[in-house]
Amino acid sequence: MNEPEVESLTLLESLKARLNQHNYNYYVLDDPAIPDVEYDRLFRQLQVIEQKDPQLITTDSPTQRVGAAPLAKFKQIKHKLPMLSLSNAFNDEDLKGFENRLLDRLKLDNNTGERVVEFVAEPKLDGVAVSLFYENGLLIYGATRGDGETGEDITQNVRTIKSIPLTLIGNNYPKVLEVRGEIFMPKAAFNALNARAIKRDEKAFVNPRNAAAGSLRQLDSKVTADRSLSMCAYSIGFTEGYELPSTHYEMLNKLSVWGLAINNEMAIVKGAEGCIQYYRSLTTRRNDLKYEIDGIVFKVNAFSQQADLGFVSRSPRWAIAYKFPAQEELTILKSVDFQVGRTGALTPVARLQPVFVGGVTVSNATLHNMDEINRLGVRIGDAVIIRRAGDVIPKIVKVVVENRPDDAGRIELPEICPVCGSAVVILVGEAVARCTGALVCPAQLKESIKHYASRKAMDIDGLGDKLIDQLVEKELVRNIADLYRLRANDLALLERMAEKSAKKLIQAIEVSKETNLAKFIFALGIREVGETTAVLLAKNFENVENILSASKDTLEDLPDVGPIMANNIYSFFSAEENQEKINELVKLGVLFTPVETNNAQTNDLGGQIFVLTGALPNMSRDEMKKLLLERGAKVSGSVSKKTTYLVAGESAGSKLLKAKGLGVEILNEEQALALMHISSPEM
Ligand code: IVH
Repeated sequence: MNEPEVESLTLLESLKARLNQHNYNYYVLDDPAIPDVEYDRLFRQLQVIEQKDPQLITTDSPTQRVGAAPLAKFKQIKHKLPMLSLSNAFNDEDLKGFENRLLDRLKLDNNTGERVVEFVAEPKLDGVAVSLFYENGLLIYGATRGDGETGEDITQNVRTIKSIPLTLIGNNYPKVLEVRGEIFMPKAAFNALNARAIKRDEKAFVNPRNAAAGSLRQLDSKVTADRSLSMCAYSIGFTEGYELPSTHYEMLNKLSVWGLAINNEMAIVKGAEGCIQYYRSLTTRRNDLKYEIDGIVFKVNAFSQQADLGFVSRSPRWAIAYKFPAQEELTILKSVDFQVGRTGALTPVARLQPVFVGGVTVSNATLHNMDEINRLGVRIGDAVIIRRAGDVIPKIVKVVVENRPDDAGRIELPEICPVCGSAVVILVGEAVARCTGALVCPAQLKESIKHYASRKAMDIDGLGDKLIDQLVEKELVRNIADLYRLRANDLALLERMAEKSAKKLIQAIEVSKETNLAKFIFALGIREVGETTAVLLAKNFENVENILSASKDTLEDLPDVGPIMANNIYSFFSAEENQEKINELVKLGVLFTPVETNNAQTNDLGGQIFVLTGALPNMSRDEMKKLLLERGAKVSGSVSKKTTYLVAGESAGSKLLKAKGLGVEILNEEQALALMHISSPEM
């Protein structure tokens, strides 16, 4: 065997060290120092050297993170110190009780002002606990918690996790160091993994914790390598050859210096009050975090106090987990209704036995479509796990098949629309079933009117969902154009509609006629045409006639319009009934203020109504109007309740008085410009 050449050895060592450092910058600090392509180049350079001489390959080489040969089973590893668990608090009282017990045990004296304990607050990551064992800076093994005494050897899997250092940074670390922390799957990785599973018709994971556990429990570490796991260190276990700092907080910072990821939300807080404040503040930001947390852990900061407090059964007395309300609950699927949407799509909606989850009582959950129902294998009467994370619509994530009653009923797609009785079809290549009734179907009509009247569309003030339901049910409105034919007398027939509110609604419908082209196009509810595309069409075609006569090619030439969307738009505008509908609306007085649309360069001020009055110090009102219109704002001649801002200059008169009376916000020229991020001209 040839001895490795000294030169390539130093190059090899330097490549490994550089790659490890870049890895740390990227995965732990979230702050890459070099572009990805450069990292790839260094990585390939190392691979080439190692391939030429495989005996140079060491387990700490960055090339070894891709996973190793599959195992037959996991070995057992006995923890040098047991891995404990935490006691829980579920409300402020529990936390105050915890603090009182600490104060008593520590015999802190209330009279000397010492009666306050310092805690470190850390988000409680929802993943899998892990123990990482380093000797002379080298990762020797990683183990699960197991029963607390003995865990499983998951070293091969742990090595694939990029935020776990294979070697510690620097040289000032303990000779023997056991780090404890949580392996977790960030929300984005979880969503991507599930989306991939669903596409392949595979089972999705219930939550990021299960996904992390499932990914870690792989005998084939190549699967783990493919799963975007992360690690966050939260304490140390066994150490040797090092004098520990005096606080937990300093210890965590040491871990960070040695290359381990620690949570950047952690903070020092004082007393139960400080803990509660931290809990409240993180609760409000919980949804914005990139990972799931199921509570906050509070730990006594001073190691000396920790030692005084000691342990009770399997938990330290010096720490507690203040848990958030559960995001998953078990309930029963009572029935499934099919709701018909604006485009005729039939959406199955689960009716559940009401259950308190994620902080609210939930009795409905979406089931998306028949594919989802089949994938879950859910039946009526089943016990189901529902999940409500943040503000997301609750969903059924799993069926507890063991609890299935004998009479559980299959969920069948209706053959005819439950609302209008038209045939239901599933188009080739689509997952959704649709009612073919179009606007004959009251459900589709209701939904399209709701969309038409909505704020971002025609913005008809006061025409809410309940009212639209009634208008359609009483057949006062059979199509959108009928809205403009309504008279106050017709409305008197409706529930909870007094003469005054009827008049007001007619007035609002009248006012809404004056709109811009983009809002009108959006209001038409063309499939896949959202606000942005509507603005794009309005800007490019300037008026309705141009859009009606646009060819498919012209549409496809627009930025961000693909062939499918172009086809949708083209089919919509070339259909005779739609052309008639649009012409009719125009005849009934729907009016576009073309200037706004033509000149709008952004939609920063979209939906905001400005009124200008008085003499502005540095520009004419027309100049101000132009600037506002360019940003998608509406500029109106008179102040009303709908006015967002009045821009007032010198000798403003009645408009200013009216605006003040209505509580409309008043801006001067400088403030209006600041709203548009334009600095005022020098005076
Ligand atoms: S300390 C002796 N800190 O929560 C105390 N645990 O029972 C050991 N966890 O599965 C745990 N984030 O893995 C601690 N910042 C944190 C944590 C944390 C998550 C997990 C831990 C264990 C459970 C506690």
